[in-house]
Amino acid sequence: MTTRSVTDRLGGLAFGGDYNPEQWDEPVWKEDDELMRRARVNLATVGVFSWALLEPEEGRYDFAWLDAHIDRLHGNGVAVDLATPTASPPPWFTLAHPDALPVTPDGTRLTHGSRDTYCLTAPAYRSAARRIASALAERYGDHPALALWHVHNEYGTLCHCDHTAAAFRGWLRARHGSLDALNDTWGTAFWSQCYTSWEQVLPPRATQWHKNPGQALDFHRFWSDEIIAAYREQRDAIRVHSDRPVTTNLMLPGYQNVDLWSLARELDVVTSDHYPGSPGLDAAADTAFHADRTRSLADGSPWLLMEQGTSTVYDRDRVLAKEPGEMLRHTLGHIARGSEGALFFQWRQSRAGAEMWHSAMVPHAGPDSRIFREVTQVGDAIARLGELAGSTVSAPVAVLHDADAWWALSVDGLPSPDLGYHEALGQAHRALWDAGVTVDFAHPGQELGRYRLVIAPALFLMSDAGAENLRRYVEGGGTLLVQHAGGFVDDRLHARLGGYPAGPLREALGIRVEEYRPLRREERIALSDGSYGTVWSESLRSGNAETLAAYTQGMLTDRPALTRHRYGAGQGWYLSTRLNGAGYGALIHRLLDEAGAGPDTPGLPAGVEAVTRHAPDGRRWQVLINHGPDTVSLPEPAHDLLTGTTARDLPPGACAVLRKP
Ligand code: GLA
Repeated sequence: MTTRSVTDRLGGLAFGGDYNPEQWDEPVWKEDDELMRRARVNLATVGVFSWALLEPEEGRYDFAWLDAHIDRLHGNGVAVDLATPTASPPPWFTLAHPDALPVTPDGTRLTHGSRDTYCLTAPAYRSAARRIASALAERYGDHPALALWHVHNEYGTLCHCDHTAAAFRGWLRARHGSLDALNDTWGTAFWSQCYTSWEQVLPPRATQWHKNPGQALDFHRFWSDEIIAAYREQRDAIRVHSDRPVTTNLMLPGYQNVDLWSLARELDVVTSDHYPGSPGLDAAADTAFHADRTRSLADGSPWLLMEQGTSTVYDRDRVLAKEPGEMLRHTLGHIARGSEGALFFQWRQSRAGAEMWHSAMVPHAGPDSRIFREVTQVGDAIARLGELAGSTVSAPVAVLHDADAWWALSVDGLPSPDLGYHEALGQAHRALWDAGVTVDFAHPGQELGRYRLVIAPALFLMSDAGAENLRRYVEGGGTLLVQHAGGFVDDRLHARLGGYPAGPLREALGIRVEEYRPLRREERIALSDGSYGTVWSESLRSGNAETLAAYTQGMLTDRPALTRHRYGAGQGWYLSTRLNGAGYGALIHRLLDEAGAGPDTPGLPAGVEAVTRHAPDGRRWQVLINHGPDTVSLPEPAHDLLTGTTARDLPPGACAVLRKP
């Protein structure tokens, strides 16, 4: 019987990171042992990129070096998260199987010299991946150090080669049944694209102008299924030999071309990697965005932060350092929202190679450094939080997420390039985070009745079933906000005719969108409540809905911009433009009031993050992080696990984990 808990085996929360000892030698390994003890590391991810050493030539495995490291870690009290190395095939593999290299949409076949140089649909790659997963499992499946299996690394690489074309055709046949159905779904009657034999059908390769949107959407779905199949093959090969939990590390929000809801269902423990995209408070908000999404993918179960950087913030084209204290604040930001610990990429900073400038737990400067001192503080903090293991987080509000809607907003030919899917989800989450509210993400087709408020920021694509589910949610007493361009297309990427959105949703929202009117890049459109919209506007008719704010410019003057419809026992709200930050924040506050939803801990000043974790037996812990500039008095003094004393206030930058009575 596979146990889904990593923490049971560790006896507390997890702390550690990717460990790549093959970059170093004996004296450094000895120092690693000592430093891991000092930092209280209890879990190391091993072997992620070790294929070339584990299988130096096809079919010949060399495990002796890995045996020694795993035994050494075990002797030092460090459990192992053992990876299959299939994200980085070695050069011999490329030369033996050139057809297994990835091909870009323009037909360029990439070569080795980096990582992720494989095509997921190439039979040679798939069988090599299964073989090495099986060989590792046979050897280490019941090793006492083994706590977790880590299949692959951040599945996501795309390919457009002939293997992919053949697999895509097979998938399309199964989905559509006939060429007639495929032609109808993809709208090939337009631009003379009709397919008369399956062999004519290709992946969306480079072409003259807009690619067919239906083809692009189906390709994403196909690729997602291919990733899940590849993961399952390795997982099942491992399970033959091992009863330890199996995972693959997810990367949010947009890197992986996969439906994360479906992939996450296959994982024994959901794990994910996080690197903030901007510094300061934005990084803290991004941490919460990531953690709330991962917890939701885990269906509320405890999950594990598989990677973060000790000092890495990806700010577009440069990598910024974290400020002192941020390592702990980000770590607790994840743990507050359900992570069973925190791991980093990587333990020791490489002295050579592609990621030699990526931060690590032991930096180039060595242990006498700010970074390592903070690492030991984080390790000490995590060691004090063992009693949180297995506790969960509940949220009164859900933001809807559906990979189909994301992909539908990434096709060619949309009326605006600014309908950014993840940006819209981020804006909704940020406004709720600013309000202190804990947020789940949910799929539009799932049961939503437990949420007081549901927000659909970018559900451009909505299936009939999804629209009906949302209608029922409102009818049953829920408060729903649908934002601009919501439900404009169905799950075949066909426009809704007779006015947007989908019929059941028009009923719940009491509106009908007649015309969309994208705005110019910097254009603003003023609304009667003093806020303004950007990106998009719509001409809509409100049947039974009240107009809460109207446009005040141009042909839309006096036409509804924001509406509310009392429907059944609930309310359906529709916002037909992208509101500016302050306007959107005010709208979210109003919705929270109307829906009777509020912050985790009322009464805290802005900038103090608070999330409560609940154990099944009723125990509770409140994680507090002060991102603000002032010392904050706590409403109820309580025992702080981090200091072992009663906390009464929280200085700027400080954290506390309060055991609640
Ligand atoms: C990803 C990978 C790691 C490493 C980090 C760098 O998350 O999984 O191998 O490359 O990015 O930030």
